[in-house]
Amino acid sequence: GPESTRSAQLLAWYDANARVLPWRARPGETADPYRVWLSEIMLQQTTVQAVKAYFEKFVALWPTVSDLAAAPLDDVLKAWAGLGYYARARNLHACAKQVVMRFGGQFPEGEEALRGLPGIGPYTAGAIAAIAFGGRHAAVDGNVERVISRIHAIETPLPDSKPEIRERAQALVPEARAGDFAQAMMDLGATICTPRDPNCLICPWAEHCRGRITGLAPSLPRKKPK
Ligand code: ADE
Repeated sequence: GPESTRSAQLLAWYDANARVLPWRARPGETADPYRVWLSEIMLQQTTVQAVKAYFEKFVALWPTVSDLAAAPLDDVLKAWAGLGYYARARNLHACAKQVVMRFGGQFPEGEEALRGLPGIGPYTAGAIAAIAFGGRHAAVDGNVERVISRIHAIETPLPDSKPEIRERAQALVPEARAGDFAQAMMDLGATICTPRDPNCLICPWAEHCRGRITGLAPSLPRKKPK
């Protein structure tokens, strides 16, 4: 259907344009679940640019989830200093311990099981299940909400539009390479389909984007006043 054409277009764009980030596998390969989880927790409230150095420091200090679980909490909190939101670091350590004690040091593959771990909500569970295990999940964050709102010119404001956005995002996830697809959506939102001044000229989806065609793209997504 049209969705598989769209996902193929985006994956082709990703193959040529993926950002090189330390937690990513080469396109087509699945990444180490520990690295995917660690990066996703760090990226929850912190920019990609700021996360890079912390990510490298953590994997140098603690190369596996078992190493992290065995570390004193104080060492983890010290290494986290500067990233902010310290509850994330406490949950990180608690999660590492549970992965060791409940799952023998291997992250579970299922979204449900992942969601039962400290610090892992619906977004992060979907992202890990797709990126580390190839599960057909959409990882819908603010960037992806913007991309989806635009390609379908969804004028319903957030948060009312969330269910429609989820459905549209899920429909696009391909059978193969769900993890690359999730990260391609993130890269498209971060580098081309940006909040203020989207660069539609170089967008792989420009031809079919209802937001571009109608001229609404820069004003989407609409947001309901709080
Ligand atoms: N933001 C959240 N997860 C990300 C990822 N895997 N790559 C780039 N940006 C992200």
